Amino acid sequence: MKFFIDTANLAEIEAAHKLRLVDGVTTNPTLCSQVGCTDLTALYDHIRRICELVQAPVSAEVLSTASADMIAEAHRLAKIHEQVVVKIPMTPDGLQATRVLAREGIKVNQTLIFQPLQALLAAKAGAAYVSPFIGRLDDISQTGMELVEQIMTIFNNYGIETEVIVASVRHPLHVLQAALAGADIATIPYKALMQLINHPLTDIGLEKFLKDWQRS
Ligand code: G3P
Repeated sequence: MKFFIDTANLAEIEAAHKLRLVDGVTTNPTLCSQVGCTDLTALYDHIRRICELVQAPVSAEVLSTASADMIAEAHRLAKIHEQVVVKIPMTPDGLQATRVLAREGIKVNQTLIFQPLQALLAAKAGAAYVSPFIGRLDDISQTGMELVEQIMTIFNNYGIETEVIVASVRHPLHVLQAALAGADIATIPYKALMQLINHPLTDIGLEKFLKDWQRS
């Protein structure tokens, strides 16, 4: 399973990249606004800097809602850097935009997927990736991971090559469940990514080994 980092924070991306933990980056308008991108010029510049940092796919989301505008915006985003994957929301206009962009060879990450047939429709439209949001389903007392399992079953049934990015990941258990479900990718916030490395018993064990060595 590939690990993407779900952040627009350059310091977090750089730190995770140094540990060779970053197979890709996903951003969204919320994450970009959190790092001070207040206009399109700042946003595009920021996406370029992320691409230069990681040499891996970087998802950047359109802000338009009408398909023609999404397509125009996707063209501008794709021109920023060859690593850019355009994130398009799962709406009727978004689906229409995905179909056009996929035919043009632009990679699309269809985002805001909350039920399995949305993923199937996005795949049929030519999306390179689909992003089911599991944490937000958990938030409303649904089991987000069931969505991932259903998408994996459907994609395996038909040999669909669209990659499944488990998104809205909140903690390490989500990552474990994504791996058990056979998801292609989990996109993980920095804090949860670091939590994957650490275990209190590892720290306690190491401390004991070193103390015992000093005593001998
Ligand atoms: O990848 C999507 C993610 O950024 C959304 O996460 O925690 O806002 O549901 P969250």
